[in-house]
Amino acid sequence: MKNIAVLTGAGISTSAGIPDFRGPDGVWTKHPEQQSVYDIDAFLSDREAREYSWRWQKESPVWNAQPGEAHKALARLEQAGLLTLLATQNFDALHEKAGNTDKVIVNLHGTIGTSHCMKCHMKYSTADIMTKLDDEPDPHCRRRLPYSGNMPCNGLIKTDVVYFGEMLPDGAMETSMQRVCQADEFWVIGSTLEVFPAASLVPVAAQAGVPITIMNMGRTQYDRLAARLIHEDIAVALPRLVDETIAE
Ligand SMILES: NC(=O)c1ccc[n+]([C@@H]2O[C@H](COP(=O)([O-])OP(=O)(O)OC[C@H]3O[C@@H](n4cnc5c(N)ncnc54)[C@H](O)[C@@H]3O)[C@@H](O)[C@H]2O)c1
Ligand SMILES: [Zn+2]
Repeated sequence: MKNIAVLTGAGISTSAGIPDFRGPDGVWTKHPEQQSVYDIDAFLSDREAREYSWRWQKESPVWNAQPGEAHKALARLEQAGLLTLLATQNFDALHEKAGNTDKVIVNLHGTIGTSHCMKCHMKYSTADIMTKLDDEPDPHCRRRLPYSGNMPCNGLIKTDVVYFGEMLPDGAMETSMQRVCQADEFWVIGSTLEVFPAASLVPVAAQAGVPITIMNMGRTQYDRLAARLIHEDIAVALPRLVDETIAE
């Protein structure tokens, strides 16, 4: 039986109504000034940037999005016992919603559903913070710290989305690299492969001699490393590829 490792990007979720960043209808393609929404330096240094970033995330289509046919196909691939890694650059949790499990999912860029205090690391539900955002547009940690005279911590709260300039979650790249190298095939689905270190999984796979499939409407810098390039709509092409692979 085959072991397949998969890397997904924003392109798998466009058909679920979440725009990508760099595609033809991408957020940055249309509004280049939005690049700082997920920039950690701006978030840390500027209150206005924080308020904008929070507001932006509150209004994201992510909250009501439902998994599409492509997400469901990857759930079938796991159920068939063929999927060993589902590393995703998305923070929309649509792979979880489609039925893929923690056994295979690695959220390289975190997730929007939870938040944390940047000072004391207290965990928060992002949905809870969003309901109070009108009163508290720049959310701060209210936890009382016994070791500082019961004063509120007052640290900045941030979603668990990995912003540009932040480290990836502990172990995320290591686990992904290991499973990519042990796979029989590596599939890249819906990514421009512009964001590092996630994109480096492709040269890592090539070095290990793992055949690479890139399914993406637009070109990527690693197209030359791919054994198979698929320039079709992911919502159609991925379910087909999965069903063919299960039937093999
Ligand atoms: N859904 C999300 O959670 C979400 C959405 C936007 C951005 N992001 C974040 O932004 C970064 C964006 O980088 P990226 O490489 O993932 O995406 P990207 O925006 O850089 O590229 C998306 C690619 O997908 C292709 N694409 C879009 N719809 C497609 C379709 N239906 N069929 C075939 N191809 C399609 C586009 O041509 C484009 O090349 C990531 O790091 C991610 O964390 C996440
Ligand atoms: Zn705190």
